[in-house]
Amino acid sequence: MSNYHIKHLEEYYQVYRKSVREPEHFWEEIAEEHFLWRKKWDNVLSWDFTKPEVKWFEGAKLNITENCIDRHLATRGDKTAIIFEPNNPKEAAVHISYKALYHRVNKFANVLKSQGVKKGDRVCIYLPMIPELAVSVLACARIGAIHSVVFAGFSASALATRINDSDCKLVITSDGSYRGAKTIDLKGIVDDALNECENVSTVLVAKRINSNVKMKAGRDQWLQPLLDEASNQLKAEVMDAEDPLFILYTSGSTGTPKGMVHTTAGYMVYAAYTFKNVFQYREKDVYWCTADIGWITGHSYIIYGPLCNGATTIMFEGVPSYPDFGRFWEIIEKHKVNQFYTAPTAIRALAKEGVEHLEKHDLSSIKVLGTVGEPINEEAWHWYDDNVGKRKSPIVDTWWQTETGGIMITPIAYATPTKPTYATLPFIGIQPALMDEHGKEIKGNQVDGRLCIKYPWPSMARTIWGNHQRYKDTYFSAYKNKYFTGDGALRDEVGYYRITGRVDDVIIVSGHNLGTAPIEDAINEHPAVAESAIVGFPHDIKGNALYGYVTLKETGESRDQNNLRKEINQLITDQIGPIAKLDKIQFTNGLPKTRSGKIMRRILRKIASNESNNLGDISTLLNPECVQEIIDNVL
Ligand code: WT7
Repeated sequence: MSNYHIKHLEEYYQVYRKSVREPEHFWEEIAEEHFLWRKKWDNVLSWDFTKPEVKWFEGAKLNITENCIDRHLATRGDKTAIIFEPNNPKEAAVHISYKALYHRVNKFANVLKSQGVKKGDRVCIYLPMIPELAVSVLACARIGAIHSVVFAGFSASALATRINDSDCKLVITSDGSYRGAKTIDLKGIVDDALNECENVSTVLVAKRINSNVKMKAGRDQWLQPLLDEASNQLKAEVMDAEDPLFILYTSGSTGTPKGMVHTTAGYMVYAAYTFKNVFQYREKDVYWCTADIGWITGHSYIIYGPLCNGATTIMFEGVPSYPDFGRFWEIIEKHKVNQFYTAPTAIRALAKEGVEHLEKHDLSSIKVLGTVGEPINEEAWHWYDDNVGKRKSPIVDTWWQTETGGIMITPIAYATPTKPTYATLPFIGIQPALMDEHGKEIKGNQVDGRLCIKYPWPSMARTIWGNHQRYKDTYFSAYKNKYFTGDGALRDEVGYYRITGRVDDVIIVSGHNLGTAPIEDAINEHPAVAESAIVGFPHDIKGNALYGYVTLKETGESRDQNNLRKEINQLITDQIGPIAKLDKIQFTNGLPKTRSGKIMRRILRKIASNESNNLGDISTLLNPECVQEIIDNVL
């Protein structure tokens, strides 16, 4: 028997050692015993980080939806696969059984086929957190189409960039979405985006808010009548292990968003195996991850990981503050949630509201708490532990990335002793390394450095859509023969890891990964702006907030600065989305630069964080005189 379910620390160490000593043998056993294959692999792993090229389970044939759905029908057909909890608590929750999910996915897949979607085609999904989102993702996978889910908080322009980058011909959206007390005109956003997307021939529209949307003849179609007509039976497409399953965009420090490509077999094996172990999911448990399916957390740990294990997974449409800040606790009580997985930014926002909301609800069902997305601070960790977990539910602080596909450094609930703010130990099969500035690995404990991974794991992204060179440059060029994460980390005296944050120009705001370059590009489009630089500064709830330094073409005195600030934030909202808006905008006469003309963000970061007494040597700057002026006018 393989070690599919790890229960103690000694077992963790034993299995970990095996996974490092004989990785191929280890993963082969897991894959063999716990998944459904149409044909087994010829070769477990081949890899070369210099190209880079990684292939897992080459030659194997499968369909991931047969693993997520079909194989459970005999034993779990009536078990709830997905619980849909609507935005409005007065609207009834919907329980979708594995059997019902099977029929819904087949119908949707048949609709896609009837619209001409074929294996390998890209389909863009721009939907709120309603059942159609999970169903459409699985429907794509069932016919071998590559899904590209775009978070429905992105603007029309951000959506258009993503549709065009991967050349999607079909878009799935809804007439609108609910978000707390607000409704959002999603279809209108799609219409705007499609003005820039020549190749989209079909838009399928789900009804959610019953708004009066315009339907473009020959392009837009209501989804429901098509589903009603479609058969609920469909033979799944047989896929190769390394066929792409999905594309998911993530921001980099420079340039356009990167379409990370995840393939089928390795992703499936790793998402399922991590889900089972990290959260210690048991057959009757109800699991809830509050992420949106528009992010990797939702892909791996709302859909694929849980469903592969025959779990019951909750999809929540709303927000933590509607109708009040007790909503999360109400949902936990209502559905008797056993594993609860959320982000530090949500924990901080809820902690700020006090414990009154919590005390009204019975949270005794909780067995495991999880956190993801950014480093969790000590205070938030303890608040979560004391008030939500009542000091008896382990917190799994899971470090990973869009690029890694699955959880990489994490406690295993009830096996790994936790330590506040520490992601603790590498998961099975993961070989981390800390590197110094000279590219040398730092061995031993009580050290810190840049976090790399030395050996392939099954769910790593294989490339960036349409730009393999960029994939190589971004992740495999900084350190020879290693995957570079972009994060800094320290290793304590017992080998536990703590992630300290990004070491590049990516800023994590409320758990959203934002590159500085696209935001600066948006600002620079303002006719009055000469130049700008964005940095992060500490924020109580969001973790980081954005601080913009903006130099105007002419001195700004004649212009109303508050109007300018509004216009700049509007540009950002239009081009990226409201998540990238700046909290503070300071107008400056110049930005500190090196002699080669590079903006010194390090200095700007310190000034924005109230650390201007500790700027280090600035005498080598091209224009040191601008620094004092910036300090004097800091907001
Ligand atoms: C970046 C990846 C993985 C799903 C959500 C984010 C940061 C993520 C943690 C954690 C400290 C974390 C890292 C990473 N991050 N989890 N537990 N502790 N930092 O995915 O948008 O691709 O962002 O999020 O900086 O590189 P993503």
